[in-house]
Amino acid sequence: MRQKTTLLGVLPFLVHLIILLSHINGDINSDKQALLNFVSSVPHARRLNWTSTSPICSWVGVTCDDAGSHVIALRLPGIGLIGPIPPNTIGKLDGLISLSLRSNRLSGNLPSDILSLPSLHNIFLQNNNFSGEIPSNFSSKLSVVDLAYNSFSGEIPPTIQNLTHLTILYLQNNSLTGPIPNIDVTQLRALNLSYNGLNGSIPTPLRKFPPSSFEGNTLLCGSPLRGCASISPSSPPSPPVPQKPRPSKKKLSLGIIIAIGAGGVLLLCLLLLILVLCCLKKKKSREDGPSAKGKAVRAEKSEEFGSGVQSAEKNRLVYFEGCSHTFDLEDLLKASAEVLGKGTCGTTYKAILEDGITVVVKRLKELVAEKREFEQQMEIVQRVGNHPNVIPLRAYYYSKDEKLLIYDFIPGGSFSSLLHEGRGTPLDWGSRVKICLGVAKGIAHIHSSGPGKFIHGNIKSSNVLLTQDLQGCISEFGLSSMIRSLVVPPRHAGYRAPEVMKTQKPSQKSDVYSFGVLLLEMLTGKSPVQSPRREDVFDLPRWVQSVVREEWTAEVFDEELLKDRNIEEELVEMLKIALACVSRMPDSRPTMDEVIKMIEDVRPSDSENLPSSSS
Ligand SMILES: *[C@@H]1O[C@H](CO)[C@@H](O)[C@H](O)[C@H]1NC(C)=O
Ligand SMILES: *[C@@H]1O[C@H](CO)[C@@H](O)[C@H](O)[C@H]1NC(C)=O
Ligand SMILES: *[C@@H]1O[C@H](CO)[C@@H](O)[C@H](O)[C@H]1NC(C)=O
Ligand SMILES: *[C@@H]1O[C@H](CO)[C@@H](O)[C@H](O)[C@H]1NC(C)=O
Ligand SMILES: *[C@@H]1O[C@H](CO)[C@@H](O)[C@H](O)[C@H]1NC(C)=O
Ligand SMILES: *[C@@H]1O[C@H](CO)[C@@H](O)[C@H](O)[C@H]1NC(C)=O
Ligand SMILES: *[C@@H]1O[C@H](CO)[C@@H](O)[C@H](O)[C@H]1NC(C)=O
Repeated sequence: MRQKTTLLGVLPFLVHLIILLSHINGDINSDKQALLNFVSSVPHARRLNWTSTSPICSWVGVTCDDAGSHVIALRLPGIGLIGPIPPNTIGKLDGLISLSLRSNRLSGNLPSDILSLPSLHNIFLQNNNFSGEIPSNFSSKLSVVDLAYNSFSGEIPPTIQNLTHLTILYLQNNSLTGPIPNIDVTQLRALNLSYNGLNGSIPTPLRKFPPSSFEGNTLLCGSPLRGCASISPSSPPSPPVPQKPRPSKKKLSLGIIIAIGAGGVLLLCLLLLILVLCCLKKKKSREDGPSAKGKAVRAEKSEEFGSGVQSAEKNRLVYFEGCSHTFDLEDLLKASAEVLGKGTCGTTYKAILEDGITVVVKRLKELVAEKREFEQQMEIVQRVGNHPNVIPLRAYYYSKDEKLLIYDFIPGGSFSSLLHEGRGTPLDWGSRVKICLGVAKGIAHIHSSGPGKFIHGNIKSSNVLLTQDLQGCISEFGLSSMIRSLVVPPRHAGYRAPEVMKTQKPSQKSDVYSFGVLLLEMLTGKSPVQSPRREDVFDLPRWVQSVVREEWTAEVFDEELLKDRNIEEELVEMLKIALACVSRMPDSRPTMDEVIKMIEDVRPSDSENLPSSSS
């Protein structure tokens, strides 16, 4: 009997639980369907790993609540979304708190079901091309609203006055017209309504914001801008507030005279302040040089990239598949940058983004490729660059004045700096072989991709980057062909095959030559390129050949390597491989696949994890 009552008592609870669970599941499933509908109808440049079979909470850009029952944030900045957002897609995510679709190429009307999502707090849609009116049905929880740099028109919806939680409102650079609503919200910290077609006078509660919050609206008047035209110039710069008409002032009472006096003094102070600010700004922009033209370029070091990025530029970063970073051009330009090196292709920077992600930005100079050719080349780079020994390109930016390539940051430094700059412990034999074998595999992968016509064209130790566990990765694949006609003085051609010096046309065989020079560099510890400014360049292959011709001697090898008596035979074998690679006749050089086999034969034990030669 007792048993029965318990069961009966539990039953409703169970039913309730089942209903509750199905409800939760229903929510997340409808979120999933909404997002799948969204992604299937909005083309995008960067592929998303949103598949109906994988859990929605693992999709890139999607954040769920702890229970996994709602999508609470959707963040897809700068992934090349194009066209209108269909209604009943994102507007169905009824648990959404934060939405960022900034820096895409979204256009058309903004569906009214998004701004009215009941739990929406933050919305970032800046840098798109949305048009039409701003929907007026707002979620009362909205706190950050950024719709700047779009093509919104019509009036600012008066219902915005009711958003009591509003802290940031950015509407600059749209085509909004009409009056500014009387937004009287104490929390409002930042406001920008610049560069629209707004008219009328600035409401009193908003006069605490600087003039730059309102500039570029020629019909707007009142503090902090100039006084409204209907007021005579001698009167204080505070026009009547339309909402609260003042009693008529026929007689100049003492109070009003004092008010006028105080207003005059205030106006004077304000003018002075503006003057000082203007001077400061001018001075600053002069210091910043041409980069001040761009967006907020705030590189902390003296050198910076992105000065050629036009502010009105609608070209965005183009991302490649597999790039999990969600930064955009704006983030990149705001990142603190440090120069890593300067080479024939351009300057390389290490950029630390605000959220701590580190990327490498290569700023190409004197590119000969046209945009079409450049994009085709980037396609190839993307297709071929997918190998553990090739540094993957993550994104690029192309405009007339600026070409940027974005790579993963590889923390181990370059092979060149480890060999020649002598920081830390010198590289032992095992590590050197491991690095070179990795590089050989990377080059072989490039050579075997496509119909056998891909070449690297610029193999050198400073283009070999090392991971923490000393994997050699080859960088700069795909760039040499675009800067090929850049005349490289033959004196600086330490890695260049003799035939390339004449024809300027690299080939797979000339890649093998350059790799041979790299092997010689590793064996001798000598660099084939002395300081770029020095006139005499060291012809490493010729030097080694001349020494070796006398007799097989230990003289060529790096002293560091000779400390280990057990590896002499391996050194000599490796030297033979290197010399085969730097043969003057292209046809007598081995292929990269043959080179890999030969290296593995020299040191079969090294393919795995032997840190040093202990044999
Ligand atoms: C405004 O949005 C709410 C949900 O936030 C909805 O219930 C209401 O019908 C909408 N009103 C209009 C006029 O669209
Ligand atoms: C933005 O959209 C408008 C039409 O709404 C179009 O005329 C304009 O060319 C678009 N601008 C860009 C940069 O795509
Ligand atoms: C603001 O909300 C109040 C009540 O919630 C309503 O009476 C008023 O019309 C609203 N104002 C605007 C401009 O929507
Ligand atoms: C502002 O512009 C609108 C048209 O966009 C016009 O109807 C209105 O009279 C103007 N108001 C003022 C104060 O100029
Ligand atoms: C508002 O936006 C304009 C245009 O982008 C900018 O020049 C100005 O500095 C901004 N002002 C504020 C206060 O953010
Ligand atoms: C905003 O508009 C102003 C005036 O048209 C322009 O000078 C400025 O460059 C624009 N800012 C951006 C980021 O497009
Ligand atoms: C999608 O990509 C993100 C980031 O790269 C990753 O964390 C996630 O596991 C991936 N999800 C699926 C379903 O592949």
